[in-house]
Amino acid sequence: MIPYLNPALAVEERVKDLLARMTLEEKCDQLLQTTIGPDVNPNNVGDGGEFRPTIGSILSYFGGVHKRNEFQRHAVEETRLGIPIIWGMDVIHGWRTGFPVPLAQACTWNPETVEAGCRIAAKECSAEGIDWTFAPMVDIPNDPRWGRVMESFGEDPYASGVFARASVRGYQTADPSAPDAIAACLKHFAGYAASEGGRDYSYSDISARKLHEIYLPSFHAGVDEGALTLMSSFNDVTGTPAVVNRYLMTEILRNRWGFSGFVVSDWDSFRQLKAQGFSADPEKIAIRCLSAGNDMEMVSECFKLLPGLVRSGRLDAAIVDEAVRRVLRVKFRLGLFEHPYTEERPLEATALLPAFRETARKAAQQCAVLLKNENDLLPLNPDSIGSIALIGPVAADAAALVGNWRGNVDPATVPTLADVIGEYFPHSRIVTAPGCGFESAGDDGIDSAVEAAHKADIILVALGEEWNRSGENCSRSDIALPAVQRLLLRRLAALGKPIVLLVTAGRPILYPELEPCANAILHLWQGGHEAARACFDLLTGACNPSGRLAMTFPRSMGQIPIYYNEHRRARPDQGYYHDLEESPMYPFGYGLSYTRFTYSDLTLTNELVAGVKVTNSGERRGTETVFLYLSDPEAELTQPVRRLIAFRQLDLAPGESGIARFELDKMRDLAYTDPNGERIFEAGEFVLSAGGLTLHFDCR
Ligand code: NOJ
Repeated sequence: MIPYLNPALAVEERVKDLLARMTLEEKCDQLLQTTIGPDVNPNNVGDGGEFRPTIGSILSYFGGVHKRNEFQRHAVEETRLGIPIIWGMDVIHGWRTGFPVPLAQACTWNPETVEAGCRIAAKECSAEGIDWTFAPMVDIPNDPRWGRVMESFGEDPYASGVFARASVRGYQTADPSAPDAIAACLKHFAGYAASEGGRDYSYSDISARKLHEIYLPSFHAGVDEGALTLMSSFNDVTGTPAVVNRYLMTEILRNRWGFSGFVVSDWDSFRQLKAQGFSADPEKIAIRCLSAGNDMEMVSECFKLLPGLVRSGRLDAAIVDEAVRRVLRVKFRLGLFEHPYTEERPLEATALLPAFRETARKAAQQCAVLLKNENDLLPLNPDSIGSIALIGPVAADAAALVGNWRGNVDPATVPTLADVIGEYFPHSRIVTAPGCGFESAGDDGIDSAVEAAHKADIILVALGEEWNRSGENCSRSDIALPAVQRLLLRRLAALGKPIVLLVTAGRPILYPELEPCANAILHLWQGGHEAARACFDLLTGACNPSGRLAMTFPRSMGQIPIYYNEHRRARPDQGYYHDLEESPMYPFGYGLSYTRFTYSDLTLTNELVAGVKVTNSGERRGTETVFLYLSDPEAELTQPVRRLIAFRQLDLAPGESGIARFELDKMRDLAYTDPNGERIFEAGEFVLSAGGLTLHFDCR
């Protein structure tokens, strides 16, 4: 057997053998990625490229399994070496079964939930011929104007790392060569979320400290978990565009972290170097992008020049070899040589299975955040409600429940709030009306909705962002809901009935104007396929809200950027905006429950095992996320006021107590990262805090 085709041999041996057989052209073709046919992402501008059977990868291809196999057959059976093509796709929060958007998933604070969602997405998309997802996005945003906050796991670097790991496990499993495992891609490396003013694709100025303290840890965690690929980012990192940033992709990623997979560039990012003012010369771009550490060019134009550049002596062939080695390594690890084809199975056998929908429902239940519950209005008792009005543009809109980057989720298979309300209130009179459109008055008018609602015992007002208001290239200068929706809420509130406000959004929104108009508020995010049922499960108390915010909600646009782990200031009591209350509207970690949790006995042993007792002192079973924060009051490099170092969930019956235990590690948890990325431990005083309790301790 030819060594590279022998699965019994180690991957490195197979790579070595195959590489030695390849011509320069065959090698360089492995570094090309093209797209065929229409693209799912409207921001991926440009036509489909050229197909050649020796090409490394195809992306965003939606042609079905049969077509994939046909293309693959050309590659595997009609080329000299038969190297399979790898198919990449943006599978961001589900493929056929829609899961909550990643920011919402983070609000579950449940890594198992995140992993389970990614596992199902991998099963569904691998069954349709996708080998590789461009996810998870582990950028750390602190500006909700940026539309891509919905794709992130929120503002905390540690939490983002935990969820990055969970995603990698879900997509790749312990054995990425399993037919239903796919490769993950940590993106966008690095600092993309720092785009100035939350404007997509714009300049980002990132200090070395911030790079290492905030932007890199989540990538490091994902690499440590075994992510097979990364995507370099569009942004400019303090003058050196990320896509030509050798420090990031070679010194940190490869030399320091030991990453052995490959890096793909983002869509057209090589040619964008012209607009960024780096270079318009495709040859220079090809040399610099490859040498910096990109191995594959998405929608290739510049890497087509690689063979000529090697032949003319302008590019060292060894750099090409190294990139090819990385691409082949991933293809071998994925088992593509053993199973290049996808079995053709009916969709009913692979997609939207009842168990998948059930998992999606749990995720949607866990991600919704209860922001207000005046006088315990919730949960509702359906037996005591004679009539109920469901009003708002979200009421009968499925797409708003799913959000952007929806993969192949068909909104027609997603039940809306209006579809399922009857299941929960079988004896009540139910009226529903949109009241207005998402952005404008619409045909039905606010008056008729108010008229319909005025006889109801309770009004559910379902407002939110239209599905594509958040996402790539969806920056907004104002994150308030559109004026017409705010007006609708005010008009309904004037009726003086109890109001429950339900909000779908892919980002934090402004609540100050909405909050006084509602007695209870449930921020549903974009919860996916079963968001509607999950919403009513929560409203009726079939389950108890446990979502907690993974991103701070500001009071006003002027407070942005706002995030919980800000660094200390020179005058802690002064310098605030004179025209605004200092606190955020809803802080990081905020979220109510139908029960109460009391914290006591925060302790720490000499072996650095922390513990805190949590008691469910209310009347319902509930899940509490225990957040453990660290403060370091004195250090050579100033520290954040506090930073999250661990979290755990406790599920407690009424009256029950549990202890959240945390095994801390001096270098991992008490040390800080300096501008070179080194961990520095300074002996001295530290403060732990959890649930309002604090514990001062000394560590040497
Ligand atoms: C551009 C986006 O920035 C990236 O996240 C995505 O994976 C690619 N387009 C491919 O669609």
